[in-house]
Amino acid sequence: MTQQEMKKIAAKAALAFVTPDTIVGVGSGSTVNCFIDELASMKDKIKGSMIFYFEANHDNANEVTELDVYIDGADEITPQGAMIKGGGAALTREKIVSALAKKFVCIVDGSKQVNVLGSTFPLPVEVIPMARSYVARELVKLGGSPEYREGVVTDNG
Ligand code: A5P
Repeated sequence: MTQQEMKKIAAKAALAFVTPDTIVGVGSGSTVNCFIDELASMKDKIKGSMIFYFEANHDNANEVTELDVYIDGADEITPQGAMIKGGGAALTREKIVSALAKKFVCIVDGSKQVNVLGSTFPLPVEVIPMARSYVARELVKLGGSPEYREGVVTDNG
């Protein structure tokens, strides 16, 4: 099975967590894009009721008080559910939106499953530009080896 096929299966399975007349939070990435396609295919089954979806990377979180469910991908996830997220440069907003949600459903393909975080994907850290060097020095003190992702700008700038 290809990675894309696995993403579609994970996305389809997440539909089970979507109920009519609710607000669904949606993160970012290619797996979430599959989920959005699947959500569109659900239209007929939920005729007469509404699902609103709220995208972590575009909308204003001040406009919602609570989300019933938040669906998002991840960069790595352990069997215990610990995960690395933020590779797509949307880390802070994704965390805010997930904090607003009653339930977080993470959709991933098999390539994201690891026993130890950091096995295949480095941990993204979002910083405000003026603090970049300071934060990098602090990460070194903690034993890290930070790498500046030149040209990558998060959705918060
Ligand atoms: C966004 O910052 C990330 O956390 C995404 O959730 C993640 O990168 C999604 O990966 P896929 O594009 O493989 O779904």
